[in-house]
Amino acid sequence: MKQTLLALTLIISLLSKADEGMWLPQLLNAMNMKDMKKNGLKLTAEQIYSVNKSSIKDAIVQFAGGCTAEIVSNQGLILTNHHCGYSAIAYHSTVEKDYLTNGFWAMNKKEEVYTPNLNATIIQRIEDVTAKVLKGITANSTESKKDSITKANIKALEKEAIVGTHYESFIKPFFYGNEYYLFVVETFKDVRMVGAPPSSIGKFGGESDNWMWPRHNADFSVFRIYANKDNKPAEYSTDNVPYKPKHVIPISLKGYNQGDFTMVYGFPGRTQEYLSSYAVDMIMNESDPLKVALREKRLNIMNADMLQSDAVRISYATKYASIANYYKKWMGEMNGLKNYDAVAKKQLFESKFSAAVNTDPVKKEKYGNIFPQLQKVYSEYKTLSKQVDYYSECLLAIDAFNYARFFITLNNELKKKQKGATNTYETTLAEYKKLGFFKNYNKPTDIKICEAMLNEYINGVSSNNRPYILDSFIVANNNDAKKITEFLFSNTNFVDKEKAETMLNDYEKYTNLYERDPVFYLTNAIVKYYSNSVFPQFQYDEREINELQKLYLQGQKELFKDKKFYPDANSTLRVAYGKVNNYKPKDGVEYNYYTTLDGIMEKYIANDEEFDVHPKLRDLHSKKDYGPYANKDGKLQVAFTASNHTTGGNSGSPVFNAKGQLIGTNFDRNWEGTMSDIMYNPNQCRNIVLDVRYTLFVIDKFAGAGYLLNEMKLVK
Ligand code: ARG
Ligand code: GLU
Repeated sequence: MKQTLLALTLIISLLSKADEGMWLPQLLNAMNMKDMKKNGLKLTAEQIYSVNKSSIKDAIVQFAGGCTAEIVSNQGLILTNHHCGYSAIAYHSTVEKDYLTNGFWAMNKKEEVYTPNLNATIIQRIEDVTAKVLKGITANSTESKKDSITKANIKALEKEAIVGTHYESFIKPFFYGNEYYLFVVETFKDVRMVGAPPSSIGKFGGESDNWMWPRHNADFSVFRIYANKDNKPAEYSTDNVPYKPKHVIPISLKGYNQGDFTMVYGFPGRTQEYLSSYAVDMIMNESDPLKVALREKRLNIMNADMLQSDAVRISYATKYASIANYYKKWMGEMNGLKNYDAVAKKQLFESKFSAAVNTDPVKKEKYGNIFPQLQKVYSEYKTLSKQVDYYSECLLAIDAFNYARFFITLNNELKKKQKGATNTYETTLAEYKKLGFFKNYNKPTDIKICEAMLNEYINGVSSNNRPYILDSFIVANNNDAKKITEFLFSNTNFVDKEKAETMLNDYEKYTNLYERDPVFYLTNAIVKYYSNSVFPQFQYDEREINELQKLYLQGQKELFKDKKFYPDANSTLRVAYGKVNNYKPKDGVEYNYYTTLDGIMEKYIANDEEFDVHPKLRDLHSKKDYGPYANKDGKLQVAFTASNHTTGGNSGSPVFNAKGQLIGTNFDRNWEGTMSDIMYNPNQCRNIVLDVRYTLFVIDKFAGAGYLLNEMKLVK
């Protein structure tokens, strides 16, 4: 018994590493305050999150759905990342006014530009509604009964929470449904672009530097929230005025040192920290490697064609960047998990869990079956998951197939319409017309991708796991991907922009084409096969895994009472704390925790797509004209690393010092540490932060928009 306890304490101390965790802000007092104070924090929990008084949470913004921003003036001015503002900047860019290339700066409020569909959301309050959501469920309720009760409760509670207000609300499950929290939010709809550096500054280093340290890009952009005269959200109007926030984040010009306390406040998207060894094994040994290999093939083909032609390079730039982003992330993740021996670590924990469970017959009855059951589900789920990866990363990597899928949806809706059934034909058609299929498309590139992907598919997916029609097609062509590709592309009728547009403009006339077109025909077979034979079982297994994970977490909480558990990220507001910290990526190498403008000049390659440096920035560097933004030693610091646990969605999040002053904006993670979505390795996992002094330097010295700083609360 004593030994088990000892082992458990060991495991617990192993698991609750200081920097790991994305915590719920309303629970800081109960969970983290002592630890945060011990690590240097000078604020109270109330100053970080309060419902009745203004607190830092009132200045944290969910930006454009997937990013974070922070309010830095009493006139609704917000800072976020350049890559978060990217599509807004692109939206306002034309060939004549190329803001992506040259940057954009409003020199007064009149010049700020409204961006349609750009929202800014602020959390009003968070409430634990677990008991209310589960009300009515008994031990005897069936799964479907549980589902319907939960759904009905959620709906009623969400509605009740906002009666008589202009707020919105939603409830989300935490810990796989062991807990539920209600969020009441205020969403602003008039958000205007104020400033953005040129891409050569905001995206300096491009894909080469993405997910990497040392880093040198000023990944920021500036927007402003507008409200109506009553300071409430309103649709865009020239009558709207800058939003008056409940809290303004002060900005520190004092910098930071190795070991200083840091806190990140934002909206992390998705993590899976409590998975079993079976899941981690699947991710690191099968799913990540497969997706990486498939994307690598595709990226290589795209890259070769992009190097050959400027037109292709420009039209494939965004597509390439987004495929490359997760390609690189998954590669870092699988390597990190391997180096950290993640599966063995999970197995060790599982054996301790089982040992503790087995000491008590009641616990054994309740939790004793989790691992055998998980093992069983995963043996099936693994195969299905591979199928799903082949669908999204291989078959739909072929643009022709991917676009055909949309036309198939349209066709199905049209058929419903023709039968007089309820349908979404008109709205779907209108929506698709806007999407601009084949707008950024190069047929020769897609042909190469098609051949390569079919080859991967033929070699990777056995006959019995293929849609019958596709399989017969492959067999009839002797497994010859080239032959199949040639046939498809020489007989299809819609694989270019004009043809796709003609079809969409008079769709009903072209419907029967779809039955005869080989790309449509094949894609239809693929889509049908997946929706009938793969997705239902896949989702069934996911549900089962969810139930087992729910029980597993319940067990962990019961057994390890001293351990603090944080819920997986789910795009809700979280606090992560850690410290300014460097790391050693491998034997013999130690990185510094910050970079400087000198490093930009070291990376400088004239006229390079990724590493060119703007003449004005070079000039400021050579004159050392850094104003009050330089560090004590006279260097201009650009970015730094810290040990905050972050993930996608934390982009743009404020990074605070111990006093709640802004020292930077979060924008990335290090490659070696991207495994932190699955398992946090305190020696390797770092978030990458843009130094706010470099942000201010770019706004003031580079862009000449220093008037914006007058609105800010600068702490000198
Ligand atoms: N890796 C960062 C984040 O996930 C930035 C991505 C955008 N930048 C880029 N070079 N693709 O998601
Ligand atoms: N760049 C990421 C984002 O867009 C943040 C990096 C990460 O995944 O931590 O949210």
